[in-house]
Amino acid sequence: MSDFESIIHEVSWQSPSNIALVKYWGKHGVQLPSNPSISFTLNSCRTKTKLISRKNDLSVRSIDVYVDDQLKSDFKPKVEKLFDHAERRFPFLSSYSFEIRTNNTFPHSSGIASSASGMSALALCICSFALAQEALEESDFWKSASELARLGSGSACRSLFSGLSVWGEHTSIQGSSDKYGIQYDDVHPDFLKYQDTILLIHKGQKSVSSTVGHKLLEGHPFAEIRFSEARNNMDLLLDCLRKGDKFEFAEIVEKEALMLHALMMTSDPYFILMQPETLAAIKKIREFRKQNNIPVAFTLDAGANVHVLYPEDTKEKVLKFVQDELASFCEDGTYLCDSVGFGPTKEKC
Ligand code: PMV
Repeated sequence: MSDFESIIHEVSWQSPSNIALVKYWGKHGVQLPSNPSISFTLNSCRTKTKLISRKNDLSVRSIDVYVDDQLKSDFKPKVEKLFDHAERRFPFLSSYSFEIRTNNTFPHSSGIASSASGMSALALCICSFALAQEALEESDFWKSASELARLGSGSACRSLFSGLSVWGEHTSIQGSSDKYGIQYDDVHPDFLKYQDTILLIHKGQKSVSSTVGHKLLEGHPFAEIRFSEARNNMDLLLDCLRKGDKFEFAEIVEKEALMLHALMMTSDPYFILMQPETLAAIKKIREFRKQNNIPVAFTLDAGANVHVLYPEDTKEKVLKFVQDELASFCEDGTYLCDSVGFGPTKEKC
């Protein structure tokens, strides 16, 4: 059989990264969150993934992962784990071999985690394949893809929706679940056009891996307080999102980012992931907000980079401020300009 004839199914998706406003940090069971989280889906930071599935005569699953057209073995364990989960849901997968071709739209060494965009893109490809094999109902597609993405990397389950996404059961959000993310729509339209300029403070820096990071909450003296604070912050933030209160939004989002880092700094072992430049940028952002009455805010992931969040109608002024006063804190002066986006797109193969 020629290579061409043996190809039985090809599917390709592009999926974005997301930035949490109320953070997920700490999990239990099979990748279930200890508190609800909410995020902006990003627009430009995306992963494009193609899944090529071939019927396997040997009944031994094989998976080859190509990143930027190069065969990569270091990505395989995470991908294999995702397929183990997928196979439990879709047993037919066990009789296929897979070739995965993936690339990111953002620079590799930027320190921007690609697990959310990468795992969501792959979960979408697997669910599209399951749909084509009639192993999945069309009406369950997004829920199933989000659930599978979650099993690959928790926060990835929030990358599948336009605008804002919520993951984790929360009393005031109907339909919210620990198992999958949902789109969150009860927001002032200005938030759907928010900008996110990512200051690449330390490009090569290794963030705390998620596996290590979430474990730090086990037995952490502040764990229970944190989970209850996250729930409170959800309610406070939902109120701001609904009302369009951008200054209060800034206060809550910043407290959340600092609480994430405070947890890491008080863990055993502890991690200090902010760099002097991270703190310098934070100070400037807070001053700029106060002096100019512009509701620019910062948030952080589990690393040194700073996400600068601001409304679209302040873009010109904020970008000038970034260039004049924040770019010098970035490695090689590099920052990425992104904004709230519309979620994944299916690509032509
Ligand atoms: O999805 P994970 O396991 O990579 O964890 C993500 C954790 C944070 O990015 C720090 C917070 C979040 O909610 O995205």
